Amino acid sequence: MPAATTLVEPVTVAGLPLSSPFVMAPMTRERSPHGVPTPEVAAYYRRRAENGVGLVITEGVLIGHRSAGHQSAVPRLTPGAAEAGWRRVTGEVHDAGGRIAAQLWHLGSRREPIDGYPAWTPRTMSGGDFDAVLRAYAESARVAVRAGFDAVEVHAAHGYLLDEFLWHVSNPTRARRLFPAEVIRAIRAEIPSCMPLIVRFSQFKERDHDARIAETPGELGMILEAFREAGADVLHASQRRFWEPTFAGSDLNLAGWARRLTGLPSITVGSVGLTRDFVSSGRMRELLERRQRGEYDLIALGRVLLGNPAWVRLVAAGRLDEIRDYHKSDEQRFS
Ligand SMILES: Cc1cc2nc3c(=O)[nH]c(=O)nc-3n(C[C@H](O)[C@H](O)[C@H](O)COP(=O)(O)O)c2cc1C
Repeated sequence: MPAATTLVEPVTVAGLPLSSPFVMAPMTRERSPHGVPTPEVAAYYRRRAENGVGLVITEGVLIGHRSAGHQSAVPRLTPGAAEAGWRRVTGEVHDAGGRIAAQLWHLGSRREPIDGYPAWTPRTMSGGDFDAVLRAYAESARVAVRAGFDAVEVHAAHGYLLDEFLWHVSNPTRARRLFPAEVIRAIRAEIPSCMPLIVRFSQFKERDHDARIAETPGELGMILEAFREAGADVLHASQRRFWEPTFAGSDLNLAGWARRLTGLPSITVGSVGLTRDFVSSGRMRELLERRQRGEYDLIALGRVLLGNPAWVRLVAAGRLDEIRDYHKSDEQRFS
């Protein structure tokens, strides 16, 4: 394995200096009553930032349109109390030497009825719906800037609203496939030119792991190039296991293809560190070597950080016996 210290060396991506190439992946947690993040939320993110994570990406945060989501304890990115709550979160992360991006989320047809709107049913968007949703993304981007975020991530993965536009099954109308690019453009217009705009995408859906938005590199390239032209600075390629190739005939993973097809920096993710023997088994070496070869720039950690907020620091120090294996119950206990 490369020397432990190289794990936490500083890196600059899209103009943003980070204390390490490790990123906390976005993980929904429903601990923000009425959409407002509490001091506990700030402490939760701070713990990861002060333990070797260079960039925290928040849990999915709902934009301010009533169709965006149904869970009242999922945070929002709207003016007022939620904005003030997020300002506390970004302050704590900055105090700990970290950087933080807000993940903007709209559930699309995955949204369920909520109290007060029991008659809600998902329907096809038309005319004014597009403008209203674009305005809500733009407003959340403005709030992100005011609340002190260092970057914004657009959630265009896993079967939620923007990904529904990318998938031929949920959106056979080719012309509309690029609504996600319009959203990126609307956000780009609201944030400073030096503020990185990250776009998260995936081949799979949360409820269909075999789904694909692109069968070939050419198809993927068309989608990602549209994101780049609209103002994306970094591509966050969500996959379930980072070592799995995306297309036949090449070992490149999804983040590798994103980088090759667009020239943009990319973030990889997927089953890093879930068990303690990840480090000794050779996967850790593979993870770092692929990065050294230029396949991706940053490495996101999801579930391992729930029960091990200090995973990066412990691995760098060789203190592997202090790491606990991931268990599904971590998602309730530590979320
Ligand atoms: C409890 C939980 C909540 C998640 N919530 C989100 C989310 O809000 N937005 C998102 O893009 N991905 C979400 N994900 C996916 C993670 O960001 C990550 O891609 C996934 O867990 C794979 O990484 P890992 O193997 O390191 O955990 C979630 C995953 C988990 C386990």
